[in-house]
Amino acid sequence: MRTIGVFDSGVGGVSVLKEVLRKFPADNIIYFGDSLHAPYGEKEIDEIRSLCLKVSDFLVYEKKVDALVIACNTATGAAMDTMQKRYGIPVVGVVENGAAEGVKYTHNKNIGVIATPATIKMDLYKKSIAKIDSSIKTYSVKCPLFVGMIEKGWEDTLENDELIKSYLNEFSVEIDTLILGCTH
Ligand code: DGL
Repeated sequence: MRTIGVFDSGVGGVSVLKEVLRKFPADNIIYFGDSLHAPYGEKEIDEIRSLCLKVSDFLVYEKKVDALVIACNTATGAAMDTMQKRYGIPVVGVVENGAAEGVKYTHNKNIGVIATPATIKMDLYKKSIAKIDSSIKTYSVKCPLFVGMIEKGWEDTLENDELIKSYLNEFSVEIDTLILGCTH
């Protein structure tokens, strides 16, 4: 039986885990949420990378996973390339697919991305979208407060509606497609 390791900085990646479980019901799945060090998205890139590698070393060398799913946008940007070179197993992240979906839907070629400060600093979605269609403009808004809201499990409150609205109001142009580039 194959073992697939799925990891995120916390509980947000459970949405990705659900898909992995649906697609690979016969496989053994290990989920690692690094809640001790969350949020990743407000740390320096080097620090995020070294936290990610601690988790992936554990999953690859101790738990002997056959494949790794990085269920975290920030970690995908900071560490996916390094992990792909470090281990001889498939390592997949979440950014490219999200970017490709956004490109499918936009008509006015203005895509909005809401994500962690680190994801935006690394221009992850901007670069992925430009690789597919360089005529598309990507506008980004940092949403650091989503992490606390999801980790604490209070996503359905009026305050959160207000928070989401205030983030969306930060877009200065009319976007017709929004990518939630954050597990939280
Ligand atoms: N999992 C992170 C991401 O998708 C969000 C939470 C965090 O900052 O740790 O970018």
